[in-house]
This record gives sequence, structure tokens and C-alpha cells, in this order.
Amino acid sequence: TSVRMAPPLPLLILLVIHSESYGWDVSYRHSHICALKGSTVTMSCTFRYPTGNQIITAFWTKTQVKEKHEEFPDLSEDSEYSQRLQYLGDKQQNCTIRLSHVTQKDERMYYCRFTTNVPDEKWIGTPGVTLTVTDLQVEAPERVTEGQNVRLICKSSCTLTERATFIWYRNSQPLTERRDGNNQLLLQSVRREDAGRYSCALHGHIYTSPDVQLNVRYPPVNPVIFISPSGEIVEGDSVTLSCSSNSYPPAEISWFKGGTYLNYGQTYSISKISSDYSGEYKCRSRNEHGEKYSAAVTLNVMYPPRNVSVSINGSVEGDSVTLSCSSNSYPPAEISWFKGGTYLNYGQTYSISKISSDYSGEYKCRSRNEHGEKYSAAVTLNVMCELIMVQ
Ligand SMILES: *[C@@H]1O[C@H](CO)[C@@H](O)[C@H](O)[C@H]1NC(C)=O
Ligand SMILES: *[C@@H]1O[C@H](CO)[C@@H](O)[C@H](O)[C@H]1NC(C)=O
Ligand SMILES: *[C@@H]1O[C@H](CO)[C@@H](O)[C@H](O)[C@H]1NC(C)=O
Repeated sequence: TSVRMAPPLPLLILLVIHSESYGWDVSYRHSHICALKGSTVTMSCTFRYPTGNQIITAFWTKTQVKEKHEEFPDLSEDSEYSQRLQYLGDKQQNCTIRLSHVTQKDERMYYCRFTTNVPDEKWIGTPGVTLTVTDLQVEAPERVTEGQNVRLICKSSCTLTERATFIWYRNSQPLTERRDGNNQLLLQSVRREDAGRYSCALHGHIYTSPDVQLNVRYPPVNPVIFISPSGEIVEGDSVTLSCSSNSYPPAEISWFKGGTYLNYGQTYSISKISSDYSGEYKCRSRNEHGEKYSAAVTLNVMYPPRNVSVSINGSVEGDSVTLSCSSNSYPPAEISWFKGGTYLNYGQTYSISKISSDYSGEYKCRSRNEHGEKYSAAVTLNVMCELIMVQ
């Protein structure tokens, strides 16, 4: 029997060795806390000590190192913490504290320390509570094309201890789109209108992640040409055509007159425009997802009459003759007829049906529009013996 009794002995010795710490304990509800930047953290904690001892001090400290014979530094006396720290416990067995406005600088381990009325009967709860402070980052796919399903993730560098509800923003406006998983936003069959600056936050927290730009790629839509200056264009003006078209990525613009390629670039500029530039213009907007042509716009360059000349229309037959005035202008000119210096008539042609020597003389036409006027060279009619000579 004595042999059987032997084993309990080492156990007894162990109990004796550990009796020093028997009844002493600090326990933390969470040994690791991940908190959102700017938030308030509660470190829940209780402590035990042998009955008979009286607590003199109970506080938190951020270091396990102390000067000899000196006490650990009290966090509530640390200027970095004093304004933000609140002791919620009772300093008898509850050592819960609250720390507000946490930042990355607060990342470390924290310990509860208490001392009693018995010299050298003190305790520090190690390991303590590790605090990690995280921010939020929106993670979005790099390349998004219209129609795809897009998943945005609100990332934190550690798992937040609190049960967190995420809020999403586009261009600072809260979103109601479908959530997929707690920290994900699912944009189904993404549209170009979904492009924008996205950010995320946690419900009940002021901190918001930095914005992330989401671009949605799509082919050009409805290019439109704008003419500057608007209104009528007079020869010599400087005119700029610009082509505007929505697309992502931005389109490359090409210019056409009639069917002929002119140039590329957002704008097509003409300095000192002439009538040669009158015509129909189009722009083409193209990116890697497609291309589209604008409707044609017509440039009508206004200019005063020129190349004014008189000709005999048809032939000089019998006793009648018709003079015809031709000229170039825009808008079309009004034609007037003169014999010598005397106004005769207006109209494109001037006809004499019963010719006589009275009609001999110098004839000319005047072409006039709102931009100017010009006379033709004179044409001389010589009527002799009822025979018309044109010079
Ligand atoms: C400790 O105190 C806090 C704040 O008063 C309280 O919320 C918590 O429940 C207490 N913990 C225990 C274990 O009594
Ligand atoms: C008009 O006259 C100009 C010279 O002044 C000439 O260069 C041009 O070819 C003429 N245009 C026509 C249509 O005859
Ligand atoms: C030429 O004259 C005839 C009548 O004589 C007229 O019908 C025709 O329109 C004229 N042509 C031009 C170009 O003026």
C-alpha cells in the first residue's frame, strides 16, 4: 500500500510551489481587439486576489518594464491617453476601461495592474490586451466594362471585434444596392451611371474610407458637333468645331468633310475661314469598345459677291437680246441693272425685246448681299441698222 500512496506527493509539492500565485488573476474578455480608427474601445477585464488583501490601486499600463522600486506608469497619467481614457470598473474586481479616438499610435499591448495593502503582493495581468487599429479601404476591380457584375470590398487590415454593419457611398451619397456578404457591395450588370467615387464606413462610426474611383468602360454614344462661334459665319472668321461624345475610356475623334477624312482631335479649327470651307462636316468618336458618327452639320460661309460678270444669254436673235448676270456670293445676291449710270431694273437677267438704236450703250449689273456689293465690268451694246453689236 505504501507504494500506491507515493504518486500524490509530487502533486502536493507543485501546489506548494504555486501557492504564491494562487487566487491571483486578471482575465480579459478579449485578448486581441481590432478597432476602427477613431472609434471607442472597451477593454473588459476582471481581477481576483486572495481574500484578506485590500486593493490600494488598480490601473492600466502600457509597459511591462519599470524602473527598479518604481511602479508601472499609470496610463491615465499619460498625456497621450489621459483625455481619452475612462475607467469603467469598480477597482475592486472589475478593471474595465474605455479608450476613445483610437489611432494607429495606440497599437500595442495593455495590461491591468493592481496593488494591495500587503507589501510585494501586487499583480500585473500578462499577457495583456493587444489593440490593433485599422482603417477601411475600398477594393475594386481595375477594369470594369458595362454589363459585368462588379464586387466592391470594404477591407480592414484585421477582423473588427464588433459586429460591424457596413455602409457604402457613391459620390458621398449612401447606397441601397444589394450587399453580398457583410463587407461587399455587388453591382449587378454594371451601368455607366454606376461610375463614381466609392467609399465605405461602419454603421455608427464617423470614420469613412478614402474614395476609390470606379470607371465603367463603354463605347461612344451620340457624338454631337458644336460650332463656335454660333450664329452666322462670315469669311475671315475663325471657327472651331468641337465634337462631344460620352465614352470611357475617352474616345479618339476624327473629322470628315463630305466623305473625306480631314484630321483628328477633339476640335477642328479653321482660322480665317473662306467659302471653300462651306460644306457638311461629321465627327467620328471611337474607342476600343466601338465607334459612332455624329449627324452632319453644314457650314455656310457668308461672303460678299465676287466674279460678277455679264453675259448674253442664248443668242442675239432677231430684234431681242437677254443679258444675264452671274456672280458668286453667300447668301445669294440681289442683281440690279444699270445703263450708263442709270438704274434700269432688278433680276438675274435683263431682256430687251424690241431693239432700237436707243438701246445702244454700256450695260452693267450690280450684285449685292448683306456682306457687300460688286459691279460687273461694262458690256457695250451697239445697235446699228437694227444690228446688235456686243463689245
Ligand atoms: C465591469 O464594469 C462594466 C462597466 O460598468 C460593466 O459593463 C461590466 O459588465 C462589468 N463586468 C463584470 C464582469 O461585472
Ligand atoms: C472667281 O474669281 C477668282 C479671282 O478673283 C478666281 O480665282 C475664281 O476661280 C473665280 N471663281 C469662279 C467660280 O469663277
Ligand atoms: C436664258 O434666257 C432664257 C430666255 O431667253 C431663260 O429662260 C433662261 O433661264 C436664261 N438663262 C439664264 C442662265 O439666265
